[in-house]
Amino acid sequence: MHRGLSGITFCTALALGACSTPAPPPQASTPPPITGERLAIIVGCVNCHHQTPKEILNAPPLLMVQAYSLPEFTTLLRTGVTRAGRDMYAQGSVMGIVAREQLAHLTDDEIASIHAYLQTGWTAERAAREEAKIATFPPPTFMKP
Ligand code: HEC
Repeated sequence: MHRGLSGITFCTALALGACSTPAPPPQASTPPPITGERLAIIVGCVNCHHQTPKEILNAPPLLMVQAYSLPEFTTLLRTGVTRAGRDMYAQGSVMGIVAREQLAHLTDDEIASIHAYLQTGWTAERAAREEAKIATFPPPTFMKP
């Protein structure tokens, strides 16, 4: 109702100009809150770890994060060093590069949200559901014969 009225006002002001109503925004004007679950999806943890064929990227299950304390997890995401002290960046592992070049930009609060979600909200059942999607995706072009 409000949008329609302002559209009319806009057209009247333009007299005989183009009277198209502006397209609605692609989503609600109030974005959904940033939760640990949304961050884990948006920054790619779920995609690399559970939606990518293992022959492309051999990423371990995200359930592994349950063994990480928050300080260990923060070090992992900022530097690519695992809780066992393995430096994945030095090893040339994609997780090390993604940690230093991408995940290091997360704030302390964002890291804590992801950590909390993966400790309590993430399950083996959810992981299996994400992995089941792989068979429904179109095959990656570089794997086509
Ligand atoms: C670009 C793909 C990619 C993204 C994005 C990514 N990972 Fe990884 N991750 C990997 C791969 C591949 C490995 C295995 C690397 C290795 O063992 O050298 C890995 C390893 C790990 C490990 C194992 C560390 C250990 O103790 O051995 C954890 C935990 C982890 N990732 C958590 C995360 C979390 C949490 C996120 C999101 C904040 C994330 N990863 C984002 C690809 C990715």
